[in-house]
Amino acid sequence: MIIIDGPAELSGELTIQGAKNSTLPLLAAALLCKGQTVLHNCPNLSDVDTGLRILEHLGCRCRREGQDLIVDNAVTCCEIPEELMRGMRSSIVFLGAMISRCGQASLCSPGGCELGPRPIDLHLSSLRRLGVEIDESGGWLSCRAPEGIQGAYVSLSFPSVGATENLILAAVCGKGTTIIANAAREPEISDLCEYLNRCGGRVYGAGESCVIIDGVKELFGCEHRVMPDRIAAVTYMAAAAVTGGNITLRNVDNTHILPMLSPFEESGCEVRQLGGCLNIMAPRCLGAVKHIRTMPYPGFPTDAQPAVMAMAALGRGTSVFVENIFENRYRHAEGLQRLGANIKVEGKVAVVEGVERLAGAKVDAADLRGGAALVVAGLAAHGRTEVTGEPFIRRGYENLAEGLANLGARIRSQEE
Ligand code: UD1
Repeated sequence: MIIIDGPAELSGELTIQGAKNSTLPLLAAALLCKGQTVLHNCPNLSDVDTGLRILEHLGCRCRREGQDLIVDNAVTCCEIPEELMRGMRSSIVFLGAMISRCGQASLCSPGGCELGPRPIDLHLSSLRRLGVEIDESGGWLSCRAPEGIQGAYVSLSFPSVGATENLILAAVCGKGTTIIANAAREPEISDLCEYLNRCGGRVYGAGESCVIIDGVKELFGCEHRVMPDRIAAVTYMAAAAVTGGNITLRNVDNTHILPMLSPFEESGCEVRQLGGCLNIMAPRCLGAVKHIRTMPYPGFPTDAQPAVMAMAALGRGTSVFVENIFENRYRHAEGLQRLGANIKVEGKVAVVEGVERLAGAKVDAADLRGGAALVVAGLAAHGRTEVTGEPFIRRGYENLAEGLANLGARIRSQEE
């Protein structure tokens, strides 16, 4: 668990980790590349470890040297065992690369998770369009591409991040041209395509809603620096906001932060962006964040909603959240309420009336971003807050407690 003695007032500088959500598809891309892939700026997270265990199970040799991951591709197997699939839902992103590389793939269906049902129908229907035969029985997916991956026109009914990544990974070494309409536009997709293109791929339009992929025969592994984690950055920004802090974040891509700036501006924070750095100075009295609607990129990201809700809990006035991406993404509201927040949830809407102060309590992290939001609120709460369920938080944050302690918070993690 994480133990916080609040309230804190954060100040100082911190370097933001590389993006988890970019590292995982990049590891899947390593399966497609001949020779060696070297990824710099890779965060040390349990989800990344799961990705490496999957690669090792498939026959690759992987090692970590500080923030670098080195993968030597030597695929011998095309099945992901159940415990690795269950360990991380986003393991599904290995499917496209496996089927393209081996002509077949077998893995268990990832099932539901803490954010509610997370179907993979879009992944499967779009891979079928590329000539993949998929048999779903007994919770297993057995996939074959007897004629190889065939380029096709695929229109996604929703711009799913994972489905877009799977399609790109399947099609990059396929036959002919694949066009993805209504593709997701998240920066992590551009990061993946930048790497694939450097390895010899021909992917055009990443970051736009129409992505065109001209299949190539082979890809050759090379070096790549993983983009900065925009969600880790916004979590620290929220931590500064609720504590009346003044912090500077290094290793930030400021264009990725733009869709998340409005709640900080609305609540009275002063944000200055310079090169790869961001400085945030919180006001003495935080205002409401007003209105947040989560949307696919470049809208406000669902992953940033919990931390910003922790801000709203202390912002003077009323804030309204509409969660449009995941069905069950307000579980942190209960923990925030335990700390004294005034939140009413009705379906996909949450109304937050800012309170003057929060008081420390024992709370439980039910998911990764929700857990981080409870830590953010705990920094502002008076007295001791204990957040259990730290393993959820470790899935996405490299040393969250240590990072906040370096900024002046009295916080530590402890085995339960
Ligand atoms: C990725 C991110 C996650 C983020 C999410 C939305 C990774 C590892 N994870 O997850 O942190 O919260 O994007 O920005 O990058 N859907 C379907 N059918 C499908 C696929 C998705 O109905 O086949 C629905 C989902 O249930 C959800 C919505 O589409 O409601 C968005 O999901 P998606 O964009 O696919 O998210 P992930 O790739 O799982």
